[in-house]
Amino acid sequence: MRQDVLDSLEAGQPQESAVKTPDLRKTGSHPDFWYPLARSGDLKKASVKGASFAGDPIVLVRTESGGLFALEDRCAHRQVPLHQGQVQGERLQCGYHCWTYDATGRCVTVPYLDKDKNLPVGVRGYPCREAYGLIFVYPGDPATLAAAPFPDIPTLGDARYKTRYLDRKVACHYVNGGVKLDHLGGAKPDHLV
Ligand code: FES
Repeated sequence: MRQDVLDSLEAGQPQESAVKTPDLRKTGSHPDFWYPLARSGDLKKASVKGASFAGDPIVLVRTESGGLFALEDRCAHRQVPLHQGQVQGERLQCGYHCWTYDATGRCVTVPYLDKDKNLPVGVRGYPCREAYGLIFVYPGDPATLAAAPFPDIPTLGDARYKTRYLDRKVACHYVNGGVKLDHLGGAKPDHLV
């Protein structure tokens, strides 16, 4: 233990600021991988859903034609969450002042902007794919995307395996940062998606 902490303990001083207890539930996730952020069924046509990766807000968008894209969930204008906006055709319109973004995050319309003015820079767009009934987003460095393997689940659809989908929040205890598997009916990790 640090000497300054020992000194303050002996002096009977409160320790709140001197001792930092790590939160065992927080683990680093490397962003240069594909991550499932929602189930396909969560996103109907012409709808949006707020999600996040490692604390970064991401909005998932299903367009009127059924196309899918993912953007930073923060309007470039006043930082209003874009998941509070509306799908307009193949684009997403912010719910506040109606700035509109295409599937790459480029701002394509500002309703009150004079025609001779440049459109503002938009928001970050994330690579987005759908597979196995899930919506995957690549939150990492775009330069590493081509080399990143997409998750392969060869047992999906194999009748000898049962697929279980677990939500992010599981009402159970945790031990050493991991889920107590006896609370999951004895399922083994390699059987979980
Ligand atoms: S906050 Fe989005 S358009 Fe103004």
